[in-house]
Amino acid sequence: MTIPQLTDYTEASLDKAFSELNIEADRALNSVTADNETLRLEWLGRKQGRLKTISDLWLKAAPPEAKRLIGPRFNALKEKIEVELERRNSSLPGIRQANIHAGNIVESQIDVTLPGSAQRIGAEHPLIKTMAEIVGVFQRMGYSVGLGPEVENDFNNFESLNFPPNHPARDTQDTLVLAGQEQKPLRERLLMRTHTSPVQIRTMLEQAPPLRIVIPGKVHRNEAADATHSPVFHQVEGLCVDTNITFSDLKGTLDHAMKAFFGSAVKTRFFPSFFPFTEPSADVQISCIFCGGKGCRKCKHSGWIELLGCGMVDPAVFEAVNARRIELGREPVYDTSRISGFAFGMGVDRIAMMKYGISDIGLLYSGDMRFLEQFA
Ligand code: PHE
Repeated sequence: MTIPQLTDYTEASLDKAFSELNIEADRALNSVTADNETLRLEWLGRKQGRLKTISDLWLKAAPPEAKRLIGPRFNALKEKIEVELERRNSSLPGIRQANIHAGNIVESQIDVTLPGSAQRIGAEHPLIKTMAEIVGVFQRMGYSVGLGPEVENDFNNFESLNFPPNHPARDTQDTLVLAGQEQKPLRERLLMRTHTSPVQIRTMLEQAPPLRIVIPGKVHRNEAADATHSPVFHQVEGLCVDTNITFSDLKGTLDHAMKAFFGSAVKTRFFPSFFPFTEPSADVQISCIFCGGKGCRKCKHSGWIELLGCGMVDPAVFEAVNARRIELGREPVYDTSRISGFAFGMGVDRIAMMKYGISDIGLLYSGDMRFLEQFA
């Protein structure tokens, strides 16, 4: 570090010496690369700072009358350096804040070396995706979507659907009931819905025919979990009520729906079956989507896969709806001499498992990201 040589104490030579120092100080303080702490040490450092050296060499060594001339010049230089350092300390963030405020720069433009914060994009769960696709097939046929609660009363889940109290058909549903319901009349007792059919009842209590609704949703049964059973699963049901609805309409609708969902090569066939709320009832099979009907392991070499239940709405259901509508002060508009209807229901889980080749239903409920990410 060089300090100009003082030849004498005349004002002219003091001015010259201090002006050189000022120029050097300005250059240092205006430098973009020099950091503040280095500058401070270099100029104001207590042991080896330039001002300390100047003070030792010029001020302390000077005769008393020269000190009066050096002192103010020295102090002016020192103060200027202090003020400049202070400004540098605060102004960089200050300028940045002003720029952020003015919208000239955004925070993230400053430190480009920081790792980015990536947003993980979610994807539909395979069950929800399958359910939406099935619903979509029926929406394109003019059906609207009906929804209802998973906690239902006995009337909507059973009684109105022609499951009388103590009827053995109730046993096939493995119902989970809510605790503390014994004081209530049977029809008001709460349970976990065992199928989405109660939403058919809810809809008919609210709306007059004609009706075309499709009902997706979660249902509950007290079943032990294994590779093909889960106590929670999903159904899509449908209900169509109007004048002149026949079994042919049911067959045509479901045949079209299966072709729309699985592909136009798929065939359907209907077998007699039983449900309390439909008469006649049928089980629907589709030609095996894996082997095209030739017979394979998936279809147990039959060429067919059973997929849904359906039937013509039993007049007893319409009558239960009418009776309840009267209790609610509404018109009994489901006149069985004028209207008829069909209903159908299918298990979404089994269809999703077939479609995606999933062998264990439990995977659909595991929340395991490694499994779910395959469907993103
Ligand atoms: N609700 C029936 C079940 O869960 C399915 C079904 C719906 C059958 C509509 C026929 C008509 O088993």
